[in-house]
Amino acid sequence: MTLLESLKEKAKKNPRRIVLAEGEEPRTVKAASIITQEKLAEVVLVGIRAKIEAAAKEQGVDISRVPSIDPLASPKFEEYAQTYYELRKAKGMTIEEARKIMKDTVFYGTMMVYKGEMDGLVSGALHATGDTIRPALQTIKTKPGISIVSSSFIMIVPDCEYGDKGLFIFADCAVMPNPTDAELAQIAIASAETGRVLAGMDPRVAMLSFSTYGSAKHELVDKVKRAVDIARKAAPGLKIDGELQADAAIIPKVGKSKAPGSPIAGQANVLVFPDLQSGNIAYKLVERLAKAQAIGPILQGIAKPVNDLSRGCSVDDIVHLVAITSVQAAGV
Ligand code: ACO
Repeated sequence: MTLLESLKEKAKKNPRRIVLAEGEEPRTVKAASIITQEKLAEVVLVGIRAKIEAAAKEQGVDISRVPSIDPLASPKFEEYAQTYYELRKAKGMTIEEARKIMKDTVFYGTMMVYKGEMDGLVSGALHATGDTIRPALQTIKTKPGISIVSSSFIMIVPDCEYGDKGLFIFADCAVMPNPTDAELAQIAIASAETGRVLAGMDPRVAMLSFSTYGSAKHELVDKVKRAVDIARKAAPGLKIDGELQADAAIIPKVGKSKAPGSPIAGQANVLVFPDLQSGNIAYKLVERLAKAQAIGPILQGIAKPVNDLSRGCSVDDIVHLVAITSVQAAGV
């Protein structure tokens, strides 16, 4: 069974309530019909029913068993706008502005999750990453004890002997542009947890750099070293090491020679990049050049699961991300 198949099986065992914020979008409508048929999650589409039905007709799918909610017609609209206003008034939000914002389906869907009426949200087939996750950053916020939201990709590299036979977590490739040392440490801890929960890994975390064990001297290298110390103090049981170059992190022979005595060098399966430029570039190169499957970005650190699709996503991508979001919501 592939990892995605096993995640779908996991989701089926404990289907959670997931809101699809771009409810009128044709791929999303088709995915909702499949998800409902396969009992992967209880999905609700945000949008106008007539438009959803028109999209279903266009896609040739039956949407009759999938519920929807039109923010403007909803009896909850005013309550949601008031709640959003209360949460944001210290930042200068007015009730008029809050009502305007709540017409946006991503804000409305996020408020359904904030209020506990749904367990998680998936969006991004139409919206850019920032527009999908900003409502959640403003309202749902982070898990207790965590101060940042970051993201992981599950990377499945074909014909690869490294990591867990080609299975890796790459982080952060989508959210935090320039993490501090303490933020980098949080990304490492959260990514190890994502690897454990979603990919069934025994995480071995490499904090990547252009230097291995002091081979180069630079303030950027020092930042990675400090992040390793912070992560070790915060999560004493975590298998983590750095700073390591990518080859020393994943190739046993190179790891032994460049980082002798390291607990994880040459065997890392969780790769933490020093910033978003390197992380985003790395995952796209591995995806294209090594023909890897890149599943994500999967948001981590957020108090309730919210996940972002790529605008080029397929119907299957939406189905898979809903299954992943449901598994995250179930917390198993
Ligand atoms: N974790 C926790 N809270 C955060 C984070 C974070 N990572 N980032 C912002 N916030 C908080 C802010 O503190 C703020 O809180 P407040 O308003 O209550 O004080 C709130 O979220 C909103 O902040 P904004 O400043 O409005 O949000 P910002 O414009 O900084 O957007 C974002 C945050 C969208 C994550 C930004 O960092 C970003 O654009 N990151 C890059 C996204 C991207 O383009 N990725 C690459 C493409 S994705 C891909 O290729 C798969």
